[in-house]
Formats: sequence, structure tokens, C-alpha cells
Amino acid sequence: MAEHHAGWSSNHQPAHAPGGLEAAAAIAIMTPAHIAGVMAIEQSAFAAPWTRELLCQELAAPGGLRYVAIRTRPQRGDIAGYICGMLVLDECSIHKIACHPGCRRRGMGGMLLRYFMQQAMGRGARLFMLEVRESNVAARQFYHSFGFVQTGRRRGYYSDAHEDALVLHYRAADPVGGAPAADIISG
Ligand SMILES: CC(C)(COP(=O)(O)OP(=O)(O)OC[C@H]1O[C@@H](n2cnc3c(N)ncnc32)[C@H](O)[C@@H]1OP(=O)(O)O)[C@@H](O)C(=O)NCCC(=O)NCCS
Repeated sequence: MAEHHAGWSSNHQPAHAPGGLEAAAAIAIMTPAHIAGVMAIEQSAFAAPWTRELLCQELAAPGGLRYVAIRTRPQRGDIAGYICGMLVLDECSIHKIACHPGCRRRGMGGMLLRYFMQQAMGRGARLFMLEVRESNVAARQFYHSFGFVQTGRRRGYYSDAHEDALVLHYRAADPVGGAPAADIISG
């Protein structure tokens, strides 16, 4: 059975107030049992989604941190979002984050990203890195709200649309979002 790590409600408050929040969720380590739910979101969220094979490779990669947000109500058990990345020494790359289209702008992505970063920092991460499509204004704004800054550009990185990737970094000095460390159970 999946180990649930952080509740959505009670005292586990996201950094951003979840305006209009209707669902509740808990965070669990992503396992093969979550692949179908993750793939459904992946395919709805990205122009060039990962294949099931790529997701399985991600799940098997050493040094990976992968979490899902699982609804606790109203439909108990549905996957509402996920995040995955990899830690190498003190550098952590964020490979994917996505929330179900019906769950966006309610703090779910923020909850996942904060939890991921707290877990990574607990294991020594100090620099977080990711690439984002230049046209993905929502994601850029999302990362900006966490303090990520643009440090580079990869021209034509997304071959499907010949689109540039912006390289974003976050250098950790303080606990992410100021959330109390006591809320986090190590994963
Ligand atoms: C990016 C994503 C994960 C954000 O998840 P989310 O649950 O909607 O984000 P949150 O509700 O936690 O938003 C946190 C903050 O990010 C910013 N933000 C998020 N979505 C935004 C949008 N559409 N427009 C502007 N700002 C946005 C806001 O500052 C927001 O705080 P606020 O709501 O208090 O103003 C979600 O939009 C998503 O799944 N997108 C599709 C997949 C994707 O593009 N992933 C990133 C690939 S690099």
C-alpha cells in the first residue's frame, strides 16, 4: 500500500493560498501502480508526452524522487498530479510536474513542488534546475512564484515545435516556502 506523506488539508498548507480548493489530496511516492493515472495526466498536459516506457525508465532510475498527489475526496484514490526529478550530489533536476486539468490553480502544483523540494533539500539538494517551454506562461509564472530565475536558453530544445527551452534555477538557502519541517515525513 502506498505510503501517504503529506495531507492537503489540516496544517499542511501550501505556500500559495488554495483559492476555491474543493479537493483534498495526500502525497505518496510514485510506484508502478500509479503509472496509468500518471499517463492519463501526462497525455492531457503535454504536447509531446512521455511514453509509458519513458515513465517506467524514470521510475527505475537511481537517485530519482517521484511523487503523486492522490485525492482523498471527493473521488478517493484518483491521481491529481505528479512530480519527478533526480538528485545528483547537491543538484536536483526537475523533470516533470503536472496536475490534472480539473485541479489546476488550486495550490496542488505548489504542494507537489514544495514537497519535492523539501525532500530533495533534506537529502542535500541546494541547486534546482529545470527547462520550460518559452510559450508555457502558466508554468513559467508558477516557477517564478517559487523564486526560480532564468539562467539560460536552449535554442530549439523542443523539436516538435522548434521551440526554445528556458533554463530556470533555484538556489536554496532557506526552507522552501517557509513550511514547517515537522510536516514532512522522509520518503
Ligand atoms: C504548472 C502546473 C503544474 C501548476 O500547477 P497548479 O496546481 O495549477 O499551480 P498552483 O495552483 O499551485 O499555482 C501556484 C502559483 O503559480 C502561478 N500560476 C499557476 N498557474 C498559473 C497560470 N495559469 N497563470 C498564471 N500564474 C499561474 C500563480 O502564481 C499561482 O499562485 P496563485 O494561484 O496564488 O496566483 C499546472 O499548470 C500544470 O499541470 N500545467 C501543465 C503541465 C506543465 O506545463 N508542467 C510544467 C512543465 S515545465
